[in-house]
Amino acid sequence: MENSQIPGKAASTWTGPAREQAVQRMFTAIARFYDLNNSLLSFGLHHSWKRKAIAHIPSYPGTQALDLGAGTCDLAILLDRHLQFSSKIVAADLNVAMLRVGQQKLRTQQLGDRITCLQMNAEHFTFPDQSFDTVTAGFCVRNVGNLPQALKEICRVLKPGGRFVCLEFSRPVSAGFRKIYDWYSFHLLPWIGTVVARDGTGVYEYLPASIRNFPDQSRLCGLLKDAGFQTVDYHNLTGGIVAIHVAVK
Ligand SMILES: C[S@@+](CC[C@H](N)C(=O)[O-])C[C@H]1O[C@@H](n2cnc3c(N)ncnc32)[C@H](O)[C@@H]1O
Repeated sequence: MENSQIPGKAASTWTGPAREQAVQRMFTAIARFYDLNNSLLSFGLHHSWKRKAIAHIPSYPGTQALDLGAGTCDLAILLDRHLQFSSKIVAADLNVAMLRVGQQKLRTQQLGDRITCLQMNAEHFTFPDQSFDTVTAGFCVRNVGNLPQALKEICRVLKPGGRFVCLEFSRPVSAGFRKIYDWYSFHLLPWIGTVVARDGTGVYEYLPASIRNFPDQSRLCGLLKDAGFQTVDYHNLTGGIVAIHVAVK
């Protein structure tokens, strides 16, 4: 592969269709190894981060829920349990390879009739206004080509009073911890991720660079308000490596 075809780190600074295409190539390349690498690189913490995000959603039956950037469907499956197995859940993602892994998981757990997988772009949903009570997004919005547009679309498809729960990498609060975390994410993480997934797209160099370039906790609050949400709050996890933003329309 030519170097020009391995955007990795560079793609984290791009916006629009160029970023979208580069990111999608990366997810297609690593889809089969995504779950394994997620567990290895986060030391298993992503499971508890996801459970904590879901806990911010009121648990009542009949909720119409969208999990955006569902990927391999972990959050959609947790949502199904949290909403007492009686709600309609849509798992949407732009990437077919990631969704295929997710669909296989749903089949294995016999959840295919309750969770519907759809290929869809966060920037242009085909859902009518006010379709959902809740939208979740786990580690997705950092990857979209046009973040303000995606946040507006999320707000549009929520019912008034509906809740967006966004789980995303963020900025560690303590400077000392940030140094250790930066060393891990810029040196060790790309090496482990690339070896395990036998990756040639640079996705594990893109990952820390995209985190560094993503709005921090307060800036993301501002973007959510600009997108039309009435109240926005956030909760740091693991010292701010990850944050859960809860935005109410
Ligand atoms: C890091 S994965 C997260 C998967 C899963 N939510 C999780 O927490 O494990 C990010 C997902 O966002 C999806 N994604 C990126 N840009 C998207 C877009 N514009 N529309 C829909 N999905 C998108 C990717 O295809 C990928 O599957």
